[in-house]
Amino acid sequence: MQLTLDELRHSFARGNGGAPVLDIDRLVVDAGTFFAITGPSGSGKSTLLYLMSGLLKPGEGRIAWDGAEIGTLGEDARDAWRRRNAGFVFQNFHLIGEMTPLQNVMLGAWFGHWRAARFRDRARALLDGFGVPPADRPAETLSRGEQQRVALARALLFEPKVLFADEPTASLDAENGGQIAGLLAELAHARGVTVIAVSHDRDVIALADRTIRLEHGRVAAPEALSR
Ligand SMILES: Nc1ncnc2c1ncn2[C@@H]1O[C@H](COP(=O)(O)OP(=O)(O)OP(=O)(O)O)[C@@H](O)[C@H]1O
Ligand SMILES: [Mg+2]
Repeated sequence: MQLTLDELRHSFARGNGGAPVLDIDRLVVDAGTFFAITGPSGSGKSTLLYLMSGLLKPGEGRIAWDGAEIGTLGEDARDAWRRRNAGFVFQNFHLIGEMTPLQNVMLGAWFGHWRAARFRDRARALLDGFGVPPADRPAETLSRGEQQRVALARALLFEPKVLFADEPTASLDAENGGQIAGLLAELAHARGVTVIAVSHDRDVIALADRTIRLEHGRVAAPEALSR
């Protein structure tokens, strides 16, 4: 799916003195692109992912996927859009520590009231592919790198058309980080998923089709970083 952002401004009611956390005139991400967002801490990267994915409603501006505006939708409609189209890997994973990896990956299928059994094999296969034992022990006993892969498996369960990943390799060593970066690139290039990742990782940026840098909520020097 193609993303178009126009005249996007967002501030939080509290904090930062009400100054805009994001201020982007226009940004287009084509379908099947591996798109990276970099920039210093506090520059608005996570907030931008939340807005792009409909987790947050923008203060002003337009956020459209394949031309359909999601920014003006109510919360339920944005949730529905996200369930149908998007996967999200959160910066701190949002796993349920007492549950096994498999249970964590299956959460969406249970919450979505879909026939969960249909997804169990896929959930196992994703975890196997990432080298994480599906049901040996609770997720809180896994290393951060393993937890990161569980979060990615969960985001991929429903074969999303758009994948958002907030620092998906930050907890991994260079080898595992490189593998995940390769997998994200493959999702985009072989399967047409639009992959939007916040990252400082050289491997991610090297494989990305485009990288933008945010500074104080604005897009800085986009072309200098693009290939
Ligand atoms: N819910 C909120 N309420 C108030 N201010 C917020 C909220 N969420 C984020 N902010 C502020 O918005 C700015 C951007 O935050 P954001 O989390 O998007 O940055 P980031 O680029 O992802 O940083 P990091 O690299 O540390 O993850 C920061 O100044 C942050 O304090
Ligand atoms: Mg962040």
